[in-house]
Amino acid sequence: MSDFAIEVEKLVKVYHPRRQPPVRAVDGLSFNVTRGAIFGLLGPNGAGKTSTLRVLNTLSRPTGGRARLLGFDVVAQPVEVRRRISVVLQETAVEQFLSVRDNLLTYARFHGLDRVLARRRAAEVMERFHLSPEAERKVMDLSGGYRRRVQVAKVFMVQTPVMFLDEFSTGMDPILKRAVMGYLRDEARQGRTIVLTTQVLSEAEELCDDILIMNKGRQVARGDLHALKLLSEGVYEVVMTFDQLPESIQAELSRLAPLRMNINQNTIELALKAEEARVLELVSELARNRRVLRVEVSGASLEDIFVELTQGK
Ligand SMILES: Nc1ncnc2c1ncn2[C@@H]1O[C@H](COP(=O)(O)OP(=O)(O)OP(=O)(O)O)[C@@H](O)[C@H]1O
Ligand SMILES: [Mg+2]
Repeated sequence: MSDFAIEVEKLVKVYHPRRQPPVRAVDGLSFNVTRGAIFGLLGPNGAGKTSTLRVLNTLSRPTGGRARLLGFDVVAQPVEVRRRISVVLQETAVEQFLSVRDNLLTYARFHGLDRVLARRRAAEVMERFHLSPEAERKVMDLSGGYRRRVQVAKVFMVQTPVMFLDEFSTGMDPILKRAVMGYLRDEARQGRTIVLTTQVLSEAEELCDDILIMNKGRQVARGDLHALKLLSEGVYEVVMTFDQLPESIQAELSRLAPLRMNINQNTIELALKAEEARVLELVSELARNRRVLRVEVSGASLEDIFVELTQGK
């Protein structure tokens, strides 16, 4: 048996919207996901993350290439694939007219869990997701964040070897999100393979063993966080707080052609690609004849790498 839970070879997905030119959402993507890994698919809006997941989930047919899940081909053996996965979709997919409890039970039954076990697990899962007080409420009456909880809670009802989560944390409060990240890590430790997409880079940084950054349907970088950070050697983050924001600062900063820049009240944040000595020189130029309350210069974050690799390309 292959060491990989997922094998993707030259995957292509082209959409043909009516009266519009075709869209090459996935353009020859290849990657493997090791069993038991937490694999992060990252990329800007429209990069092709959801399209990739949908093919792997058998929800859409690839235009070209191949994908296998635990050795089963997603096109030729969709039933075998579906039996082994649980999926949290990006768009809300919960039964609005069912209660929270019935949503969980229906999902578990669909995956072949017996009634008694399903009820017991539903109680546990609702406890973990702080949903117990809402158990009998119809999902349509819940707030958006709670609906998202139900959706994510569902995949913890079953023990499929592979889990897919498309931006699971959208709309979750930070406390629950932290807890769910812990649950995901536990699942991976027990050998489940997790594939997730996220826009929140700190999430990927914390959770993923392996990251693929994609843009326009193609891979732009691949590796663990350490490897990705090496890619961005020579990128520095600068944070400076002035007692008063200099009037001309916007223009001055733009001239430095930063990879990223953000001005918030009296604080500026920049990501610069330059020699270290040059960065320090720039900082002292910005500080000249001004009162600076705080200066921090640090190495690149995943966010910088992401921007550098995907912006304007
Ligand atoms: N059903 C569809 N019909 C036509 N075009 C589509 C369809 N689904 C997606 N696309 C297009 O395919 C491209 C990739 O979309 P996709 O949803 O895979 O991106 P994504 O990386 O998940 O983005 P996001 O971060 O916004 O969720 C986009 O240009 C999108 O407009
Ligand atoms: Mg998406």
